[in-house]
Amino acid sequence: MAPISMSGKPQSPHLPFGDRQNAPFYGKDVLSVKQFERADLEYVFAVAHEMREMVARVGTFDLLKGKIMASLFYEPSTRTSSSFTAAMQRLGGCVININEVQYSSVSKGESLPDTVRTLECYADVIVLRHPEVGASALAAEYAEKPVINAGDGIGEHPTQALLDLFTILEELQRVDGLTVTMLGDLKYGRTVHSLARLLSCFNVNINYVAPEILKMPAHIIEELNGNGTEQTQSGDLESVLAQTDVLYVTRVQRERFENPDEYETVKDAYNITPQTMARAKENMILMHPLPRVGEIDMAVDKDPRAAYFRQMEYGLYVRMALLAMVLGKS
Ligand code: NCD
Repeated sequence: MAPISMSGKPQSPHLPFGDRQNAPFYGKDVLSVKQFERADLEYVFAVAHEMREMVARVGTFDLLKGKIMASLFYEPSTRTSSSFTAAMQRLGGCVININEVQYSSVSKGESLPDTVRTLECYADVIVLRHPEVGASALAAEYAEKPVINAGDGIGEHPTQALLDLFTILEELQRVDGLTVTMLGDLKYGRTVHSLARLLSCFNVNINYVAPEILKMPAHIIEELNGNGTEQTQSGDLESVLAQTDVLYVTRVQRERFENPDEYETVKDAYNITPQTMARAKENMILMHPLPRVGEIDMAVDKDPRAAYFRQMEYGLYVRMALLAMVLGKS
């Protein structure tokens, strides 16, 4: 299948892999979706599409042979850490995994700048997840090697947003003209902060549906208003469900609440069931960054519109593309 461009038209040819040290992302950090313009996205997704085909054809290949990725996770992760590891290994590279920082020198009080300056002595790229907003930017200030933000507290999760957008493109073959509804914890959910920003590169309508105390932060809404993106806010899914092309559900982020009683009042605010899906468009998709903790009933999983398991797989190809790009091999 030919890679699809943002406009829905088939994209030009095959991108042969090789040394691309003049490629736009060679040696760069990936810290925020704000770094990406439409043309960059076309490029990332064309490479990701090639990665998908290569994995289907040969499984593993040697594009990043001899390269080492340090994976430094100060917060829990299943998908992000394992898909980055799998991405590096499918490209023939190796991984230094530090995902239990309590067993590293972090527990002795080592600062983030010192930890990243240590890891870059051994690795070519550093993937970082950290509970504080701006931690990746701080790490990037000190590291000479590329730093990839794998989630900084309630800030951003750019690689997730890229894989979310790639999922929309691969599943629906376009982004322009779509109505995207984000549901759940829009205040603390970093994935929706990044995805909303990325979607504003396109001509989309975005509906935010959340309980009053978990609304999308005003500064993000203002930022998108500045780009002319149509946005609505409500607490009620039913009012927008029938028009929705992409329903993006998020988990209420318990670990971010200062007051556990507040969490109790909103934890079961929404639940997608087969009955909800019966009122949705026939050709819509249902997405979730996962993990889910009750927002989507398991009975929905067999609905072909449930795209969240495919979404995880798309994440592998996008992360392969990003690693190849920052290491100058795409
Ligand atoms: C998300 C995250 O860590 O922000 N998960 C992920 O990376 N796939 C969403 C979440 O934890 O709810």
